[in-house]
Amino acid sequence: MNNQQTTTPAIIGKACKESRVFRTGRVFPNDMNNHKTLFGGKLMSLIDEAASISAMRHCRTNVVTASTDSVDFLRPIHQMDSVCLESFVTYTGTTSIEVFVKVIAENLLSGERVVAATSFITFVSRDSDGTPRPVPQVIPETEEEKLLHEGGSKRSALRKERRVNSKALATKLTTNKYWD
Ligand SMILES: CC(C)(COP(=O)(O)OP(=O)(O)OC[C@H]1O[C@@H](n2cnc3c(N)ncnc32)[C@H](O)[C@@H]1OP(=O)(O)O)[C@@H](O)C(=O)NCCC(=O)NCCS
Repeated sequence: MNNQQTTTPAIIGKACKESRVFRTGRVFPNDMNNHKTLFGGKLMSLIDEAASISAMRHCRTNVVTASTDSVDFLRPIHQMDSVCLESFVTYTGTTSIEVFVKVIAENLLSGERVVAATSFITFVSRDSDGTPRPVPQVIPETEEEKLLHEGGSKRSALRKERRVNSKALATKLTTNKYWD
């Protein structure tokens, strides 16, 4: 009898390019706000969707959105623009995955491109029973990937601190006011 265990070797690292997502679309009248620019909530939804695909490409498990650091709307996006989202995993903890999303607006008449928004979103990899599951590390290759990866541990520490503060605040907030 063979007592040797056969285990699948753990994947210790994955390149950022393996999680990269590009998604280009148009801005339609229903996507606009009162200022005739792209509605922020619409863009946030697109960001979360692209980022979740990057997270799953990285770990090949189910993931859940744990937090968004911020969505920085740097430039308005107009109806004559196309919107390209690029996302990829920039940093991982034990079970958490940080995804960076860059939103590029291209004026379809002039060809001018600008970075219109950026965001970092954190996902947690989970087993089928919902338990957080360890994820592969990130291997940055390009200068941009290395730059984003370098800041990852600092951002992760800030998120842990913010989470403690959010939990403390939640204990002081009312939940039944609107059901009276
Ligand atoms: C996010 C969630 C899964 C964390 O579960 P948990 O049992 O508290 O997990 P843990 O405390 O063991 O943390 C697991 C990892 O998530 C990270 N994490 C947890 N909350 C986080 C937050 N708000 N922001 C960033 N990272 C967070 C932890 O730092 C830890 O990372 P590490 O393993 O890399 O060190 C849980 O709070 C949850 O289910 N929240 C609701 C998610 C949701 O509904 N999202 C929107 C719809 S998709």
